[in-house]
Amino acid sequence: MERSRSPLQPEVPGLIRAVPLDVTDADGLAALAADVEAIEGHVDVLVNNAAIHYDTWQDSAAADLRVVREALETNVLGAWQTVLALLPLLRRSAHPRIVMVSSEGGSLASMGGGGAPAYHVSKAALNALTRTMAGDLRRDGILVNAVCPGWVATDMGGPGGRPVNAGAASIMYAVDLPDDGPTSTFTRDGRPVPW
Ligand SMILES: NC(=O)c1ccc[n+]([C@@H]2O[C@H](COP(=O)([O-])OP(=O)(O)OC[C@H]3O[C@@H](n4cnc5c(N)ncnc54)[C@H](OP(=O)(O)O)[C@@H]3O)[C@@H](O)[C@H]2O)c1
Repeated sequence: MERSRSPLQPEVPGLIRAVPLDVTDADGLAALAADVEAIEGHVDVLVNNAAIHYDTWQDSAAADLRVVREALETNVLGAWQTVLALLPLLRRSAHPRIVMVSSEGGSLASMGGGGAPAYHVSKAALNALTRTMAGDLRRDGILVNAVCPGWVATDMGGPGGRPVNAGAASIMYAVDLPDDGPTSTFTRDGRPVPW
């Protein structure tokens, strides 16, 4: 009988491992952390990318709060509990980084046009989490930064946005920061976005 294989173990060692994960599932996150600990022993970079509900179909004055709750659950608490699950392994890294994939839609400075309330409020909260966590994890040498990928032609962004590799490059800026690089920043393409 074939021995069961952890989903983390790749067909070819050293290559990318893809595993299914729901960031709202605490048990799934704990299982992922246990697998990563057993196989890698540490985590160098956590990119919190998952998000839902770009709710351009509604406004805050007539919002479906079920949609808002779901957005907060995934976009804010999902990112938060993913950090908590992987923090012990990030602390074991020599160069730990946390990148929150946010949006200029969460910028308080440019908010005011209305619309997409679940998305905008959740990204503003994610930005607040970024700054709070950057302060709390400074003592551990963990850089915590938020990035906006720009308008990207994904399922969420739809046609007309820039290519996915340009959005990914905007995220990679915060992944590739040097050890003495900044923490608690919000950038797009490496340039500051107002909070
Ligand atoms: N596209 C843009 O123009 C744009 C602009 C600014 C910011 N952003 C941000 O960029 C990030 C990526 O967005 P995108 O454009 O690639 O959106 P997308 O095409 O809708 O992809 C969202 C991704 O999040 C995953 N996801 C959703 N809920 C999840 C959960 N509970 N657990 C784990 N994964 C979950 C989805 O997985 P499944 O496919 O399995 O559901 C999907 O892979 C998001 O944070 C978004 O807010 C995007």
